[in-house]
Formats: sequence, C-alpha cells, structure tokens
Amino acid sequence: MKKAKKIISLILVLAMSLAVTACVGPNKVEKPESKIDFKALVNKQNPLPANWEENIVTVHMTNSVGDDVEVETAAYDAYLQLKADLEKEGIKVDLDSARRSVARQQEIMDQFTKDYGADYAAKTVAKPGYSEHHTGLALDLYLIIDGKDVVENEDMIQYTDIWATIHSKLADYGFILRYLEDKEHITGYGYEPWHIRYINDVNAAKEIMASGKTFEEYLGAVNEDKLSLDLGKSELFSEEELKEMAICIKCDFAGWEDCEFKRLSYAGDLEDREEQLKLANENADGKKYIDVAKFVGDFHVYTPTVSTFENNTDYDNYEWWLAKTEEDGWEIIDKGY
Ligand code: DAL
Ligand code: ZN
Repeated sequence: MKKAKKIISLILVLAMSLAVTACVGPNKVEKPESKIDFKALVNKQNPLPANWEENIVTVHMTNSVGDDVEVETAAYDAYLQLKADLEKEGIKVDLDSARRSVARQQEIMDQFTKDYGADYAAKTVAKPGYSEHHTGLALDLYLIIDGKDVVENEDMIQYTDIWATIHSKLADYGFILRYLEDKEHITGYGYEPWHIRYINDVNAAKEIMASGKTFEEYLGAVNEDKLSLDLGKSELFSEEELKEMAICIKCDFAGWEDCEFKRLSYAGDLEDREEQLKLANENADGKKYIDVAKFVGDFHVYTPTVSTFENNTDYDNYEWWLAKTEEDGWEIIDKGY
C-alpha cells in the first residue's frame, strides 16, 4: 500500500513537471534585450546618448560581399522580416553598414574629405560621435540586382522603383527612412534612399512615413517656423524658383554647427544683374552660369567652428550669392559681408 502511494505521487510529480515544461518550453533561454531609447535622436546637433554602449545588445552577420556587419538585435530581427517580405516581391537587399564605432566614422569622413572635398563630405557623412550609425539602429541597405551586388551609392540611386517598394514596406517592420529628398535643410544630409532607421514602434513608424516628415519634425526637434522666410517680390523669378534658392541656402546653413537661422530674405531683383552674371562667369571654373540672385539673412552663432565668427553673437544682413547653371540649377557661389 505504502509502495503504491509512492508510485502514484511519483507519477503525479512527473506529470506536473511535464505540464510546466510544456508551458515554458524545454530549454527556453530569455533573449537579452537592449535597454536603449529606440527613438533617440542622433543628428548633427545631437551626439550618441551617454551609456549607450552598456545598454545595447547586438548581433553580427556576414553580408554577401563577406563583410562583418554589427546590428542592434531587435533591429536585425525586424530587418530579416523586411528582407523576407521584399524577397516575395523579387527584391533582394543586404546590409552594407549598420553599427559603426567613432573611429570607423572618422575613417569614412577622412576618405570622403580626401576624395570629394570637405563640403561634400559634410553633406554626406556625419561627424564622428554624431552618426546615427553609432546607435546600431541605422542600417545602410544595398541591392542585389540580377545576382550582382550594387553597393556604390551612385549606382544604387537610379533604382527609384525598387526604392519606392522598399520604402513602402519599412514602417510595417518599425523602420523609417531617415534622409528624405528635399529635407536636407532639416536633416543636414542629402537624400539617402538606402539609410533606414529602426524605431521599434510600428505605429509611430507608420505615422512618420505617411506624413512625409523627417524624424526631427516628428520629435518636434526642429521648428522651421523659427526662421522667417521672406521671398519678397520678383519680376524675374517665380515663387517656386525663389523657394528653390532658399532651400539651397538652408541646406548649406544646416551644416553650420551650433548656429540658429533667424531670417532669410530675397534681396530683390538686382539692378546690376548683367554685371554680376559676368563676374560670376569670370570665376565660374568652367561652369556656365545663366543667372544670379542674392539673399540676405540674420543668424546667431552660439559656438563658432570657424574663426570668422565670434561666440554668442548675432550676425545680421549676411549675404548669400547664388548662380544658376542649365544642368544643376541654383548653387551658392559666395557668402559673407
Ligand atoms: N551617411 C550618414 C549621414 C552618416 O554618416 O551617418
Ligand atoms: Zn547610413
């Protein structure tokens, strides 16, 4: 009798432990998660937040060209889902670059400055310490077209239909497009269809992507209204064209660190336009300018990065001279007093 009781209780314990195993799963190991702010803003004004390194969990993968790529773990899971979804549409992507150290960012900055000059580098590569790639949440995609890796930016950009499909699916997996077309004056960088950012919030990502806003605008980090823009009146240029010139100046200003733009005004149709155009063409370095225009503006410099400006100083009626080529439209040819 005693023996029978023992056997019954043994069976009971066994059955109970089996039931617990079935609920929890046999060898379930809790996956470590990053304890980071997935919506942290890292841009020209905001460096990587403190203590990021201690709180991020990453994975490493090897891409199709054999490079090791490190990505934040939740971002990588989401990326794999996005990739699988895109493959159903016949689109193949891979990861070119994700998490970067400050030292690696410096190498990229040095290379771009050497190859293309400091101005181009500033619009294309973030200053070390201020790159979203430090977060592990920014992913640069590349395309695989007909089995061939298309990795270079200038080669990838032409696949506009493919990028449109990729962008239409980003938010479903918690990603947003970070450097939008025509928003350089806010983000400080040119259009990058390949640079996507994981924010770990599908609803917010959907809202951002549907609105056409930059992440800065969504977070309320920029208030464009602070800048008073006065396009004035012109007999020569349409409002659209004046806006194009203003965007050109705002893009340039976005690269001025620690400065606040207060006013930008069209200076009016130039009385000596022919003379100014002649002058511009004399210094055009082989280009053929077909028109010139002038804007003036006010700004405040908090901490100057160039010796021409002083600490905490207002600068008023600063001048921007623009010239237009048939091929590339308006560009800044001179600025200052
Ligand atoms: N290309 C982006 C802006 C970076 O360097 O982080
Ligand atoms: Zn990038």
